[in-house]
Amino acid sequence: MPNHHETVVVLDFGGQYNQLIARRVRECHVYCEVKPYTTPLEEIKAMNPIGIIFTGGPNSVYLEDAPHIDPEIFTWGIPVLGICYGCQLMAHSLGGMVTAAQEDTAREYGKTETYFDTTCRLFKDLPEQSVTWMSHGDYMARVPEGFSLTAHTDMCPTAAIADETRGFYGVQFHPEVNHTENGTKMLHNFLYEVCGAKGDWTMGDYCKTAVEAIRRKVGGGKVLLALSGGVDSSVAAALLAEAVGNQLTCVFVDHGLMRKNEGDEVEAAFSKWDINFVRVDAEARFLGKLAGVSDPETKRKIIGEEFIRVFEEEGKKIGSVDYLVQGTIYPDVIESGAGDAAVIKSHHNVGGLPDYVDFKEIIEPLRMLFKDEVRELGRELGLPEYLVMRQPFPGPGLAIRIIGDITKEKADMLRDADAIFREEIANAHLENTMNQYFAVLTNMRSVGVMGDGRTYDYTLALRSVTTSDFMTADWTRIPYDVLDRVSVRIVNEVKGINRIVYDITSKPPATVEFE
Ligand code: XMP
Repeated sequence: MPNHHETVVVLDFGGQYNQLIARRVRECHVYCEVKPYTTPLEEIKAMNPIGIIFTGGPNSVYLEDAPHIDPEIFTWGIPVLGICYGCQLMAHSLGGMVTAAQEDTAREYGKTETYFDTTCRLFKDLPEQSVTWMSHGDYMARVPEGFSLTAHTDMCPTAAIADETRGFYGVQFHPEVNHTENGTKMLHNFLYEVCGAKGDWTMGDYCKTAVEAIRRKVGGGKVLLALSGGVDSSVAAALLAEAVGNQLTCVFVDHGLMRKNEGDEVEAAFSKWDINFVRVDAEARFLGKLAGVSDPETKRKIIGEEFIRVFEEEGKKIGSVDYLVQGTIYPDVIESGAGDAAVIKSHHNVGGLPDYVDFKEIIEPLRMLFKDEVRELGRELGLPEYLVMRQPFPGPGLAIRIIGDITKEKADMLRDADAIFREEIANAHLENTMNQYFAVLTNMRSVGVMGDGRTYDYTLALRSVTTSDFMTADWTRIPYDVLDRVSVRIVNEVKGINRIVYDITSKPPATVEFE
C-alpha cells in the first residue's frame, strides 16, 4: 500500500526491543517501518524518510562479523538516532572507539540513575536526572570528533552523545522501554525537534488511504476474507466491506479448535452484517491432519496450510476469486522472522503459509499496524466495542493450547475447562484487569483422589497475562479465591482433569501461548 506519510526508518540490528521502538514512534503520530540493517541504502532513500533510528543488538561492533552499515548513511544529511548497539555502531563508524567494559566499570544492566545535559535537543524539557534502562557490556571509550557527551551515569561517562550540527544522537540506554523514565519524550524530541516531524500518522487518515488503495487494487474483482471472529480479521472485514462491499465473501473456517460455542457466536455476529458470509465445518479434516502430531511448529504449519486449502476450495465454489485477505498484523510479521531477530513462532497467517497459494494475490491491509492501532481502526470503522476489545485468540486455536498430540476428546475437555475459567473471571468482574486469559491442557498426567477412588488424569494450566502490546507481558495476579473457585469447578465438572496449576511466568522468558 503506498505510503504518503512522513516516515522514519528503524534499522534492525537484532535487538529484543525493536518492535517497541517502532510502536513508540507511531504513538508519537509518526509512521515508521522496521527494516533489516542489510537493506540497501538506495531502498531506504526511496522511502524518503525524515530520520533513521538504529536499534540495539546482541553484537560487539569491534568484532569482525558484527553487523555494519553503509557509511554513506552518515553523509546523506539525514538525522540518526542510535540506541545501544546502534549508538556504538555510529561511534565506531565515525572514528570513535568502542571496547568491552570491565566488570566493575561501564558495564551496566537494569535501572540506572542518569544525568542529562538538557541543552541537548534530545533531552529538551526533561529533568536533569532520571532513571534509564541499561543493558550493555560494551562502552564508548572515545567518542568521534564533533560529538559531545550529553548524559552520564556514575559508571559510564558516555551514556549519551550528540553531534547537534549533523543531527546525530546516540544513547547507551533504551528509551523505548517503559523502565526508562521520559523515554517516549526523548523519542518525541528526536522526531519533532531534530527530524522536524509534523505528526501526520492518524487512524482516520490511514483508514481513508487504505480504503482507496484497496479499491484501486481490487477493481471489480472478487475478494475472499479469512474471518476468525477475532479483532484482526473482524477489523480487516470491516475495512474490506467499506472498500468493496459485496465483492467480498467472508469465510469462517471452523477447524474444531475454537473455544466453547465460539463457532455459533461468530456465525451469529457476522451473519447480521450486510456481507456474504460462509461457515465451513472442517473439524474432521483438521483433526485428521493433526492426528499424532505433537511438534508445535509442525502443528502450526499443518493448520496454516489446511486453512489455505479450504479457502482455495471455497474460492473455487464462488468462482473467479482473485484476492485472499488476511488479518496479519505487524508484530506477526516481525516475530515471524523479518530482519535479524530470531524466529520465535511461525504465526499461522505468516510463516505457516505454504509456498504455493492458488490466488492471484494475498492482501494484508493490517500488515503494518500494531494491535492498538488495529483496535483504533476498528472504532474508526464503527465496529462495536465488544468486538474491538476482544481478547486475542490465535489462528491455530486450541491446537497450540493442547500440549502433545491432539484428539477431539482433549479439545472438548479443554473447551469445557476454558469456558469455566472465563466464566469465573467474568463473575468476579476481572476481565478488564487482564488482557488474555485461557486454559492449556498439558500432557502431564498425575495421580489424584476423587471420592474413594484413585485418578490418573491430566493437569490443566491456567494462564493470564497483563500487557499492553503482547510483545512483553506480566502474569496477572488473580486473587487466590477466584483461582480456587476455578480450580474446584474444573476438577468437579470436567472429567479427565484432576490437577490445576497457574502459570506465573512473564514474557520474556516465556511466551503468552505454550506452543
Ligand atoms: P506469544 O505466544 O507469541 O503470543 O507470546 C503473542 C500473542 O500472539 C497470539 N498468537 C497468535 N495469533 N496466529 C495469531 O493470529 C498465531 O499463530 C498466533 N500465535 C500466537 C497469542 O495468542 C498472543 O496474543
